[in-house]
Amino acid sequence: MREGRSEALTPRAITAYLDRYIVGQRDAKRAVAIALRNRIRRLELPEDVAREIAPKNILMVGPTGVGKTEIARRLSQLVSAPFIKVEATKYTEVGYVGRDVESMIRDLVERSVQMVKQRKIEEVREEAASRAREKILDALIPPVRVQEKVSDFMHLFTGQQTAKEERLPAEEEEKAEKQRLSTRERLARMLDEGRLEAREVEIEVSESPQFGIPIMGGPGMEEMGINLGEMLSGMIPKKKKRRSVTIAAAREILEAEEAEKLVDHEAAAQEGLAKAQEEGIVFIDELDKVASAGSGHSGPDVSREGVQRDLLSIVEGCTVNTRYGPARTDHILFIAAGAFHKLKPSDLVPELQGRFPLRVELGPLGEEDLARILVEPEHSLVDQYKALLSTEDVALTFSEEAIKVIASLAAKMNRETEDIGARRLHTMMENLLEEIQFDAPELSGQGVEIDEGLVRERLEKLVADTDVRKYLL
Ligand SMILES: Nc1ncnc2c1ncn2[C@@H]1O[C@H](COP(=O)(O)OP(=O)(O)OP(=O)(O)O)[C@@H](O)[C@H]1O
Ligand SMILES: [Mg+2]
Repeated sequence: MREGRSEALTPRAITAYLDRYIVGQRDAKRAVAIALRNRIRRLELPEDVAREIAPKNILMVGPTGVGKTEIARRLSQLVSAPFIKVEATKYTEVGYVGRDVESMIRDLVERSVQMVKQRKIEEVREEAASRAREKILDALIPPVRVQEKVSDFMHLFTGQQTAKEERLPAEEEEKAEKQRLSTRERLARMLDEGRLEAREVEIEVSESPQFGIPIMGGPGMEEMGINLGEMLSGMIPKKKKRRSVTIAAAREILEAEEAEKLVDHEAAAQEGLAKAQEEGIVFIDELDKVASAGSGHSGPDVSREGVQRDLLSIVEGCTVNTRYGPARTDHILFIAAGAFHKLKPSDLVPELQGRFPLRVELGPLGEEDLARILVEPEHSLVDQYKALLSTEDVALTFSEEAIKVIASLAAKMNRETEDIGARRLHTMMENLLEEIQFDAPELSGQGVEIDEGLVRERLEKLVADTDVRKYLL
């Protein structure tokens, strides 16, 4: 498993993957690729060396809308490591709506355990499927044994021996059993051929008790990773209920139930916990929003600095209590990002700055970048609009010149008003295609070409009108 992964996730492969979605930003892509690779390298080392190697946390700095969050989003889809993305700002209002900083580690561990569980469920899928199949067959023709057991049981209440003469003679019983088996076989064949899918069967499903309102623990409960609602539902025995469902639905329910039973949950928890500590990655977005400007120690700044201090202890390495046991954070990789537009990384508390030794800058996007962003990435903006309109049977196309003009107008807007990076393209495209999107149902069956003339007609006036553009673009 590890070998396969280290072959696949070379730095070159990682940047190549990111290139499919993000234009430019080479330095940032390389930095995260190296950091990810080093995690794999560390795990191949003897334990005593591995213990010493701390991850090189990364700070991505760059103006708004140039791809910082996008890189994180794509990474999370690529890596098989436990990965979570959080916004630093959500910790600034602890006690009101915010959460304590340590909860990010609990979330990471939770994600990791779920990943392991998912994998283990995958591993037992076949066994679970075959057990579910047996259960469905049982539901179709109940085994005789059940009936016998009931009658054996009954004498306890009636005080009578099961009357021998009530039972069928041995050879008849055998015959009946044979017949039952052959019916079962026939049904099994039909089942496997998918001919019974719509038929209803009665199965027992366990219902987990539902709490109408979430049960809140007092402060500190979350710290311990205790969820009262969950605890209670664990204590109340699961109710079984007979329900009549189609075989297709029954299979789904039973397979999930059997898989749950087959998976060793304790082992999954331990493995997940270890994986989070060794391979976990936490992406902290909007870090600049918890930086504070100088000495004005009042109101929100106090809370921001508090968040930084809490972050610091986690990034430096501490133990966080989780539902699955204590988790050390020393080897978790942290990637932080922020625009640091007014405030600089040097406005963070010094110790925290030191904990992000790798700085990468993402540059502002120029006209050419914007033009490429319109068309090159997989599922680019242009592709998205084409796809949307194709559902109305309208074939949308863009001339090369049109793309160039859109990009150049977007760049102009970014220069002359605020630079919002690639986000500018969204508003431009929306304005450009407003009419076509409205008229699409009537244009069904036609092709619509967006050419330079159309772009200029739609957008140039808007861009030139300094009053209107503030609101529209
Ligand atoms: N270099 C790029 N290549 C392709 N798409 C990009 C690029 N930069 C930004 N985008 C697109 O622009 C939008 C905004 O980008 P993103 O969310 O990454 O901004 P950000 O750098 O995190 O900005 P902020 O500092 O405001 O959070 C997204 O839809 C993203 O796909
Ligand atoms: Mg962002």
